[in-house]
Amino acid sequence: MALLIRNGEIVTVGSRVQADVYAENETITTIGKNLVVPPGTEIVDATGQLVFPGFIDPHVHIYLPFMATYAKDTHETASIAALIGGTTTYIEMCCPNRNDDALAGYQLWKSKASGNSACDYAFHMSVTKFVRETESQLREIVADGTSSFKIFLAYKNFFGVDDGEMYQTLALARRLGVIVTAHCENAELVARLQEQLLAEGKTEPEWHEPSRPESVEAEGTGRFATFLENTGAAGYVVHLSCEKALNAALAAKQRGVRLSVEVVLPHLLLDKSFAERPGAEGMKYVMSPPLRAKHNNDALWSALALGFVDTVGTDHCPFDIDQKLLGKESFVNIPNGIPGIEDRVNLLYTMGKRKRIDLDRFVDFASTRAAKLFGLFPRKGTIAIGSDADLVVFDTNYRGTVSVKTQHVNNDYNGFEGMTIEGRPSLVTVRGKVQARDGKFVGERGRGCFLRREPKHF
Ligand code: URP
Ligand code: ZN
Ligand code: ZN
Repeated sequence: MALLIRNGEIVTVGSRVQADVYAENETITTIGKNLVVPPGTEIVDATGQLVFPGFIDPHVHIYLPFMATYAKDTHETASIAALIGGTTTYIEMCCPNRNDDALAGYQLWKSKASGNSACDYAFHMSVTKFVRETESQLREIVADGTSSFKIFLAYKNFFGVDDGEMYQTLALARRLGVIVTAHCENAELVARLQEQLLAEGKTEPEWHEPSRPESVEAEGTGRFATFLENTGAAGYVVHLSCEKALNAALAAKQRGVRLSVEVVLPHLLLDKSFAERPGAEGMKYVMSPPLRAKHNNDALWSALALGFVDTVGTDHCPFDIDQKLLGKESFVNIPNGIPGIEDRVNLLYTMGKRKRIDLDRFVDFASTRAAKLFGLFPRKGTIAIGSDADLVVFDTNYRGTVSVKTQHVNNDYNGFEGMTIEGRPSLVTVRGKVQARDGKFVGERGRGCFLRREPKHF
């Protein structure tokens, strides 16, 4: 069915223009003023509203066996929540662990998404060991259209790789033109610090942050950058949480290392005092890297405003309170993670407005830059002729509050509870089909498709 979004203010990187957008066969075919369209076209009046390209969340966990349990969402619940919040594409971390076969893991992760997601999706393929068959399996996965890898320097003996495996992964990625995303914390130091804190009887969630201090993340970030420098691969630090790690990343960028930086919603909006609350209240806010001292929020926002940070994801990873209580005897057993997929766009828009960040930057860090880095541009991440008709009509007059009571994410708490939002999507389309309206899912379940991406980081 054809779709016309009439008279909105279309916002893309480098341009703001009042015009109509017309889409046919899933694709934007015309942009202009006062378009005349064929009978039967679905017409949406966007007068007084903004029209954004569909937003992209470059870092989510949906199917995730982790820390003796499973993350709570399915592709059905996560994609509906994503769409209501304006996210039309997400990139899921495919995370087989060190004991799993990588290729079988990749097929398993794909099977969980296939036919179940209401929005489009892709994967970052985790490399959690490097053995005899790894190279041929990764070549097969890249040929299948998954052109980004993930490594964990943290989570010793589970997802974590050692320096030799990191080197082999980066060297192969360089040859394949694949970008490597990395969780940068020193696994050995985390294990030793956890041991020491527990020996001192420090078992509450408040000790999670001291077990993985800023220096441990800065070391991981710096080491990843040094390995990129010496292999020539392109890299992307995921969920960078603090000023010390930011400085390590920026120093590397400055000396020409091919490094991009992602921050995630919790590290922008929350601080370690949340995780210092006693018992289950604190456990809700346990994630890795941990929430940090408050001054780090400002450092990340400034870097974002200046374009030193490339993207904002969520690291969406919901565990409910019962699951969090697996760690009631020891913080090391609290499942790490917090949801955010539904709230990212609205909270970033709201906070960005309060901090006077340009809409142009907002569109870049919440959509366009991820599309460019991960081989989705210009199909995704912009409003242009030939792009997929993934459109977000955004009502800047809406006022509301984030709450577990109204969320669609499958979880029993919301880490951003009570935060106010000044705007939300009034309409969200995926390839020309209306999938969400005014906080409700109105679309077709399972409509989302797997996005094949060509390597581009040669
Ligand atoms: O705490 C987190 N971040 N949980 C999800 C796994 C990861 O490290 O991204
Ligand atoms: Zn991580
Ligand atoms: Zn993650």
